[in-house]
Amino acid sequence: MKTDKHIYLAPFQGVTTYTFREIYSKYFQGIDKLFTPFFTSVHKTNTLAKRGRDLEFQYQNKIEVVPQILSKDASEILRFANYCHDKGFKEINWNLGCPYPRVANKKRGSGLLPFPNEIDDILNQIDNDLKLKFSVKCRLGYFSEDEIFPLIDVFNKHKISELTIHARIGKQLYKGEVKADVFEKIIDLCNIPLVYNGDIFTSEDFIKFDNNFKTIDKWMIGRGLLRNPFLPAIIKNMEVPDKENQKSYIYKFVTDLYLSYLKKMNGRPHVINVMKEYCSFLSYSFNNQQKVFNLIKKTKSPEEYENAVAFVFDTFEWMGNETLKN
Ligand SMILES: Cc1cc2nc3c(=O)[nH]c(=O)nc-3n(C[C@H](O)[C@H](O)[C@H](O)COP(=O)(O)O)c2cc1C
Repeated sequence: MKTDKHIYLAPFQGVTTYTFREIYSKYFQGIDKLFTPFFTSVHKTNTLAKRGRDLEFQYQNKIEVVPQILSKDASEILRFANYCHDKGFKEINWNLGCPYPRVANKKRGSGLLPFPNEIDDILNQIDNDLKLKFSVKCRLGYFSEDEIFPLIDVFNKHKISELTIHARIGKQLYKGEVKADVFEKIIDLCNIPLVYNGDIFTSEDFIKFDNNFKTIDKWMIGRGLLRNPFLPAIIKNMEVPDKENQKSYIYKFVTDLYLSYLKKMNGRPHVINVMKEYCSFLSYSFNNQQKVFNLIKKTKSPEEYENAVAFVFDTFEWMGNETLKN
């Protein structure tokens, strides 16, 4: 039986920062949980203390925050779990999904998925000492989607609060189609609450997956939400402004985000790089993605960036949910 839809903000290293989550959740409705981008190399407690605001706030605009760790070392995972527990977090998330070769080649992220026994070992070492909820985010495998089946047997044996699956394999990176048929097969095999992740760009995409996955009521959305910040609210049938007002609202949001970064980073030039990264997603919601992207990407100073963004909002049409997929 499905309950109300729950929608989670997917973590994006370098994009869904503390500041992004704060401003996003102030402006837009529909998100039920926020995940931090992964923390890594947290061997010493003081490395964590230095990570600043990211691990200080258990809620942002009343939405629960879940810190994420990328590690294959049980003692490091436990140290992170205890640190987060002491800070008042209710859940941490283990990243078994990162596909990048420099991570995966070291058997981290999705690179650990072909080794279910090693995952079992790590979970055996941490199970009894965890004082908070422990969720996992993974892919269907690294080399092949068949890897997920022995993994589900392993996950089922342990205390995992939720399992989010990005329905691709590591080798695919972000390319090709999601393997929705494989995800569908897992639904009956998995005892853990499942969260579907991958390629929800429009409300039509959502309806398609929702119709196919009979019991799934938890969804994690990444690029679709970065492209069109109204997407969770649209999926949940919440009220959203009409197209023209959406555009001015998005402009306000992007400006607030930029000013918040400027304040946080003491006006450093790096701010425009962070904003360019975010705008590379947002550009998909305008009627000419490539042009919008290029106009913002080529700016070299805050002044140029501000002028380019003003020009984009003045000149191009906001398509929002009708955005082209790729
Ligand atoms: C630039 C970038 C950074 C990402 N950083 C993380 C991360 O820190 N942790 C994580 O679990 N996934 C990360 N992801 C994966 C996304 O959270 C998500 O699983 C993926 O984009 C598929 O979902 P989507 O199709 O809704 O975008 C990242 C993806 C991209 C493109």
